[in-house]
Order: sequence, then structure tokens, then C-alpha cells
Amino acid sequence: MQNIYPIFDRMLSRQDKEQLLKQRGVMLWFTGLSGSGKSTVAIALERELHKRGLLCRILDGDNIRTGINANLGFSAEDRRENIRRVAEVAKLFVDTGIITIAAFVSPTEELRQLAQSIIGPDDFKEIYISTPLEECERRDVKGLYARARRGEVKNFTGISAPFEAPTHPALSLDTSRLSLEESVEELLKLLGIQP
Ligand code: ADX
Repeated sequence: MQNIYPIFDRMLSRQDKEQLLKQRGVMLWFTGLSGSGKSTVAIALERELHKRGLLCRILDGDNIRTGINANLGFSAEDRRENIRRVAEVAKLFVDTGIITIAAFVSPTEELRQLAQSIIGPDDFKEIYISTPLEECERRDVKGLYARARRGEVKNFTGISAPFEAPTHPALSLDTSRLSLEESVEELLKLLGIQP
């Protein structure tokens, strides 16, 4: 039978991409309460990586929940679908050799397990942004904690919906104790990059 998939028709592999980029793809999965500093740390890390000539992609609520996941809310079911889609998209980036950072509350062990199983345990590093609830609520950047306390926002993580702290994260960063520079330094070390 004629080979209808000759070798030169195959998609290039992850290894090909990694050789091109001279870097390894990896998933940094940030989890933590709203206002804990996930996006802030992610953005600062991205800048440091970029400076070193390393290609990085951040996925967070701003670019995902307004686009691909615009139809999803915050019920347990919608959060699951949110995380499932994010993980599937993130996997494409990791498989392209890109240092991929997801910054989502991802409040339960089950959700993070789901993400890890989609991406694969070898590429998956769980980063717990462990800033305490009191500090996140004090910051209340978006005014959502105040609204949740008044009952105007339902199922709000930390107030009226659960947050399960990860038991064995690769790294824990409490942004009420660490400076932004210190958090980034810890992450660079985790990636085996000289700070
Ligand atoms: S997740 O639970 O599905 O992982 P995600 O990280 O995408 O959540 O979105 C969380 C962000 O949405 C919060 O930082 C907050 O700004 C906003 N938000 C709005 N309603 C809620 C809610 N009920 N619970 C948590 N976050 C909410």
C-alpha cells in the first residue's frame, strides 16, 4: 500500500522546536487566591525570562476568560471547564518549547490534578502563591472581596467557595513576605536559571 504519510509531511516535533528556540518547554502552574499576586509575579517573571532571550507565554483570566472562556462563570462545573481548556491550550505552548505560565485560582486539588494529567507530570510545576486571605482581602484590588462579603458575588473563592492549599507544590511564594524580585529569583532558581 502506498504510504500516504511520508516522513516529510509530518509535523515537526517538540524537540525540533526546542532546538530552534534553544530552551525547554515547561508549565508553571500558578495557583492561589484572587489578589494573591499570581499575575503580578507571572508578568515580572516573563520580563526576566524575555531579557535572557527565553520565550514565555502567560495565560491568565484577562486573556482567557474574556476570549476562549467568555461563556464560563464560577460554578464548580464552569471552573472545571475553564481549567480543562486552559490546560489543553497550555499544552500546545509547552509542546512548542515555550515556558508557559498559567495564573488561575484553580482552587481545588482535583482541578490542579486535571491540569497536571492533561499537560503531563514531567512538564508540570505547581507554584502556590500562598499570600494569606487576610492580605488578599486587604488589597482587594478589584473590590470583589467587599462585594462577596456583602453577598453580591456568589461562590467567591476564600469567602463562599473553597480554596484547598496544594500539599506538595514545587514552590510556595507568599507575596506579603517576599518582594517581587525575591519571588522572581526563586522561580528562576527553580528553572535552573542564574538569577
Ligand atoms: S478559576 O477558579 O476558574 O481558576 P480564574 O482564575 O479563572 O478562576 O478567575 C478568577 C478571577 O475571576 C478572580 O481573580 C476574580 O477577579 C474573578 N472572579 C469573579 N468572580 C469570582 C468568584 N466567584 N470566585 C473567584 N474569582 C472570581
